[in-house]
Amino acid sequence: MYPLIRNRRLRTTESVRRLVRETVVTTDDFLVPLFVVEGKGIKEEIPSMPNYFRMSLDELEKEVKDLWKMGFCAVLLFVKVPDDLKDNKGTEALNPEGLMQRAIKTVKNACPEMLVMTDVALDPFSSYGHDGIVAEGQILNDETSEVLAEMSISHAQAGADFVAPSDMMDGRILTIREALEDEGFTNTGIMSYSAKYASAYYGPFRDALDSAPVDIANVPKDKKTYQMDPANRFEAIRETQMDVDEGADIVMVKPGLPYLDIVREIKNEVEVPVAVYQVSGEYAMIKAAAQKGWLDHDAVMMEQLTAIKRAGANIIASYFAKDFVRIMG
Ligand code: PBG
Repeated sequence: MYPLIRNRRLRTTESVRRLVRETVVTTDDFLVPLFVVEGKGIKEEIPSMPNYFRMSLDELEKEVKDLWKMGFCAVLLFVKVPDDLKDNKGTEALNPEGLMQRAIKTVKNACPEMLVMTDVALDPFSSYGHDGIVAEGQILNDETSEVLAEMSISHAQAGADFVAPSDMMDGRILTIREALEDEGFTNTGIMSYSAKYASAYYGPFRDALDSAPVDIANVPKDKKTYQMDPANRFEAIRETQMDVDEGADIVMVKPGLPYLDIVREIKNEVEVPVAVYQVSGEYAMIKAAAQKGWLDHDAVMMEQLTAIKRAGANIIASYFAKDFVRIMG
């Protein structure tokens, strides 16, 4: 008599579905990106990221306390730097009193247990909007790595728990790790953006920080000489394995949803935790479709977060953190 095995038995009620569910997203999975600006009392919405804000330090303090109460344990900091402080070498990134350094201290004072991760790349500080130093139409690799190492030390001195290099220079994990060890920051971790693709999904983020590559002669118009070609899979594994060998504590795949095949492959290849960045464009797409009434915002968001975790993410950097809590309570 057929069928003895009926797969639908395990789907008959919500209770049985709960019992056999393989993947459950919790607040512990989230890394919450935060955008910081100079000033006081500022909480300005980013036009291409509805309901997401740039915040001055006083607002950052409130936000971090809120996030901690909601159950989140880690934030990822980005700063928007005024144009007059930008140059080719990202000099302002090393200012001990710079916005990033003050933001780190603000979070640590407000909420000492909240893990603070910092973006390490030159683009918000670069007059050309590139992650590295530009010379004769090229992005200089080793010179950039040296600056990134100094930047990492500066963030560690201010109290960062992890530095997160998002620049894709070759060898920068080793350079940063050695610099941190030399300075005694043996417990400062490195979360490497290991497989970061040259993606059009970063558009809204570049609006948020005003950090897009500038359109002037002899400056590359895009980041394709350092970020990865979206067509490549084996290269993602090699990039990630090299970062692990160089000392990365956590590796990352970015963007998220369009790259879940890469997430699973990397999860199967390496033993360190794998982070996935659900980027600004992914956020904007859901918000825009929901505003038009074309998608159920909360259901699609939950489905995507679950898919990211199911693919192998141990950590999800996502702008949906507070939306998630609103739904889950
Ligand atoms: C900077 C950086 C970017 C993002 C994170 N760090 C932008 C870029 O590489 O141009 C994108 C994040 C997002 O789109 O949400 N190096």
